[in-house]
Amino acid sequence: MEKKNIDWQNIGFGYMKTDKRFVSTYKDGAWDEGALIEDDMITMSECAGVLQYAQTIFEGLKAYTAENGKIVLFRPNLNAQRLISSAERMEMPVYPEDKFVDAVLKTVKANEAYVPPYGSGATLYIRPYMFGINPVIGVKPASEYQFRVFTTPVGPYFKGGAKPITIKVSDFDRAAPHGTGNIKAGLNYAMSLHAIVTAHEEGYDENLYLDPASRTKVEETGGANFLFITKDGKVVTPKSDSILPSITRRSLIYVAKEYLGLETEEREVYLDELKDFAECGLCGTAAVISPVGKIVDHGKEICFPSGMEKMGATFQKLYDTLTGIQMGRIEAPEGWIYTVE
Ligand code: PLP
Ligand code: COI
Repeated sequence: MEKKNIDWQNIGFGYMKTDKRFVSTYKDGAWDEGALIEDDMITMSECAGVLQYAQTIFEGLKAYTAENGKIVLFRPNLNAQRLISSAERMEMPVYPEDKFVDAVLKTVKANEAYVPPYGSGATLYIRPYMFGINPVIGVKPASEYQFRVFTTPVGPYFKGGAKPITIKVSDFDRAAPHGTGNIKAGLNYAMSLHAIVTAHEEGYDENLYLDPASRTKVEETGGANFLFITKDGKVVTPKSDSILPSITRRSLIYVAKEYLGLETEEREVYLDELKDFAECGLCGTAAVISPVGKIVDHGKEICFPSGMEKMGATFQKLYDTLTGIQMGRIEAPEGWIYTVE
């Protein structure tokens, strides 16, 4: 199979239309078989539930070309499970885990020519999503839905790749207590748009959101969870009911413990204690591990000892091990890697 003629090394995190996408429709209480189609356009009622009341959820995962040339996925079953949690919270029908994984595998296979080669630094980003499509005018869940999967080749989420970024403590909240912060609903991202535009205008790469109830504890950024390394080498990650349970973060905690022998702790992390950490990083599918060099809290700078030039030593080990597992250079725990045949 011949790859597309794309400058893999220099693509950013953007959308590029690929050949095929998967579509399945939910109607009269059941999902149809679904199919791969070529048309990337969607036609719907002006009154569709997604357009009026933002009834939409999504996932994000990547396909990688491993060292042996095979195309692989990283823990897609966990994305399937998280989409189920999102659907339940949003009063949407569940798309079954096995059908989700199958749809993702099929869509990647159909767009094989767009999977960046091993060593290029780029990957194929996969976006499964579901939305209410029939007309809804009273506030209630839709009764018809589409589940779709498209793919797009991507480079690094943050410009500069592994260069440490600077983030600000946001004055805006991302999620309400008992709200939807722990699911992947489009509405959480709509909430963050003004905050991210403001942060960018002020010269920051991202926002650190605090817990909205007390505004004293660290939650996450707009698109990634936090990991911190203490001065004695422990890996700490914030615990909260209103952050997205990142698959990358859960995998890194396992890698830290089981592959690197590090101590790990999931607990509440206070804004006040950030100054005591040795390293800080963001983790997520898009972000992979992005080191944070500096956090600015209303003019007060918190500079991590790892500096602004490169990733700290512990994050580098975590990064090398995780990406080694994803690219097939390091043996993966059982069930983590799915091969696209
Ligand atoms: N937090 C938010 C708000 C996200 O959008 C994402 C991206 O999916 C993550 C965290 C990271 O999650 P994952 O590692 O499952 O991609
Ligand atoms: C992902 O990492 O897959 C996400 O959904 C984050 C998004 C902000 C691009």
